[in-house]
Amino acid sequence: MRNPCCGQHSSCHNGDPIDQLVAEHGVISTAIDAMAREIDGMRVGGWIRQDFWRRAIEFCEQYAERCHDKKEEAVLFPALLAAGLSTGHGVLAALAQQHAQARTALAAVRTALPGGNRDELIRAVDGYVALVCGHIDTENRTLFPLVHELLPAAGMQALLEGFAKFDASPEGGNVAHGRQLAAELEREAGTSVAM
Ligand SMILES: [Fe+2]
Ligand SMILES: [Fe+2]
Repeated sequence: MRNPCCGQHSSCHNGDPIDQLVAEHGVISTAIDAMAREIDGMRVGGWIRQDFWRRAIEFCEQYAERCHDKKEEAVLFPALLAAGLSTGHGVLAALAQQHAQARTALAAVRTALPGGNRDELIRAVDGYVALVCGHIDTENRTLFPLVHELLPAAGMQALLEGFAKFDASPEGGNVAHGRQLAAELEREAGTSVAM
């Protein structure tokens, strides 16, 4: 039986780089679920907790976008193109477009926060959560099986090394801090008292 991947170290992936991405999706889903729960609390009168949302935005910028999406764009997508996935195959273009849409949706959350308008923040977070959930589902169900089909063992090893190099680079972001933020958000979500 394979050990579950911690999503943090290149040595924990059982030799399968896709395990790392699936584990990162798990961390992102934890934070996204927490954001959705916090919004559910706000729908029934919970206040806007600026500190919670500042850390949620920091998580989305630093972990979801910087540690994860950028790694897919810098390492995974080029490896699939090099392995013969045609640029005419719509999946990579669609997924890269979804990354851009998520960045735009997060910008709307960032804009809504200081104004303290509850409805605006709820709408913005709802949009971001829906986009990211759909994106993760598409990658898990459609893209990742394709990676196993297209890349031979040597290609998977190169991917693993590419991920480790990206994680260690200045572009890679702080993975451990991102995981800590996700855990904090999960612990604190939905605990504001209704007004
Ligand atoms: Fe992605
Ligand atoms: Fe992803």
